[in-house]
Formats: sequence, C-alpha cells, structure tokens
Amino acid sequence: MSTETLEAPFAEAPLTAEDFQAIVAMVRKSSGIVLTAGKRELVYSRLRRRLRALNLDSFAAYRAIVEGPDGDAERVRMINAITTNLTGFFRERHHFDFLGNELLPNLPRTNRRLRVWSAGCSSGEEPYTLAMTLRGAMPDIDRWDARILATDIDTDMVALGAAGRYPMERTAAIPAEVRRAHVKRIDSEPVEMGPELKSLISFRSLNLLGPWPMKGQFDVIFCRNVVIYFDKATQRTLFDRFAELLVPNGHLFVGHSETLHNITDRFDHIGRTIHRRVR
Ligand SMILES: C[S@@+](CC[C@H](N)C(=O)[O-])C[C@H]1O[C@@H](n2cnc3c(N)ncnc32)[C@H](O)[C@@H]1O
Repeated sequence: MSTETLEAPFAEAPLTAEDFQAIVAMVRKSSGIVLTAGKRELVYSRLRRRLRALNLDSFAAYRAIVEGPDGDAERVRMINAITTNLTGFFRERHHFDFLGNELLPNLPRTNRRLRVWSAGCSSGEEPYTLAMTLRGAMPDIDRWDARILATDIDTDMVALGAAGRYPMERTAAIPAEVRRAHVKRIDSEPVEMGPELKSLISFRSLNLLGPWPMKGQFDVIFCRNVVIYFDKATQRTLFDRFAELLVPNGHLFVGHSETLHNITDRFDHIGRTIHRRVR
C-alpha cells in the first residue's frame, strides 16, 4: 500500500503511529485480539465512529478517555467496535451434521444432562443453529436437562443474540423444514427465533481471557473463528482451559482455519476441525 493511500483516510482525525500502538496494546491486553500493522485502516474506520459519537476530533482525545480513570464504559465500546463478528446460521454445516447424526444420538442417557457452550457466539446464529440441531436430533429433549450457554465479549452482539431477530435473508441458510419449524415471521421482517429455541439458550457477555463463572462441566464446546485472532500462547491457555471444563471425551469444535496441532496435546483430532478431549 502506498503512503498516499495509507495517509489519505487518516487525514480527518490523524491516527498516529503512537495512537495505533497504544490502541493495539489496550485491545490485546483486554481481549487477546492481536492487531497487526496491516489492521491500521480497519482500526481507524471502526473507531472513527466512536470519535464521531463522542464528538472528538482526534484519537489522542479518544485515548485520553479510554485510558482514563472513567474509561470503563468506553473501553467496552472500543472492544465492541474492534471485534469482527462475521457469522451465520449453519456455518460450517458439517459440524452440525456430526453433532446431530453421530454425537447426540449416542449420548449416555443415564442422567439426561447436556451442556453445550457456544464460546464467541457473536450475534447468536451459532447457538440458535445448535438449538435447532438439538431439537432435531433429540425428540425427547424436553425431558432432558439440556442447556446451551452462548457467550461473547461483544455486549452489542450478546444483546442481538438474546433478542433473536434477524433480517429474513440471513435465515436463507437454514434448511426449509427447520425454518418452518423454528422461525417465526413477525409481519414480514425481521424474523424471530421460536421460543422453543430461546428457552434452551442463555446469552451472557464473557471475556474468554477472564474468569469463567460457570459451574459444572460441558459435553460440547463450539469455539469457532475466535482463536484465529489470538496469539499461540493465548490459544494454548484457552484450549487447556476448555479441556479442564469438558467432561472426559467431551468434544471441541473449532473454525475451518484453526488448528490445535502443535498447540495442545489434550485432544484427539477425530474429524474436520472436530476434537475429543483425551487428557
Ligand atoms: C468471527 S466471530 C465468530 C462467531 C461464530 N463463532 C462463528 O463461527 O460464526 C468471532 C467472535 O469472537 C468474539 N471474541 C473475540 N475475542 C473474544 C474474547 N476475548 N472473549 C470472548 N469473545 C471474543 C468476537 O466478539 C466475535 O463475536
């Protein structure tokens, strides 16, 4: 990229190298998200909106707020603005096929307890897809103690997930018969997830780098397209914490471009980006 094209977008409110480095350090410390030098324009465009909302004309003034003693609320908004929230219903569909066809039908039925965690759930499409898959594969699910925990660091996304309303076109990836069963039309748009899905899911804001208040172990963890933004050391710590939280032989699903190879030996690789806890 030429200097000219790099500088031009920053003319309105300059994002100096020092501002950028300070923001990179804050984001990394509070969320684990690593922003490389190539992300400077992305940082600029995402935080420029915050400057406008606060009526500020420089990133130096913005830093003074987020670095200041009363910066807690704006630090949350800064992380909300920085996160990449791309998601979709039935994204990486083979995971839901495996879950619905192989895993759920073979669950031990001794205590009829099932815990699933969507860690980094973004705006909720992933946990709703999990709920659709559970309902499809477990006709007697209402006689189970089955819960899906859906968490994300981005408080705006958690609120969207809890509301469970989406533009109609976002639901196109849901198979027609599943959509008919579980998606309600409110007038025409947006559409809303059915109460039988919502009742299975608890949405919470949670930073994966912070403490986890959950009690009890999980059978399945989906953490997909999240660790790709973290460095290897953070990934190792996180995968080890997932292993601790999973029941023996519990399953961890990661994103299509993520790997546990050379990061942790606590899982066996049993299918495309599907892992089973072994130690
Ligand atoms: C690209 S989305 C993936 C959403 C979904 N899992 C999927 O695969 O479709 C990544 C999500 O990870 C969340 N995230 C990033 N850092 C996080 C952290 N430290 N703790 C919790 N969530 C985080 C982001 O807010 C974002 O919503």
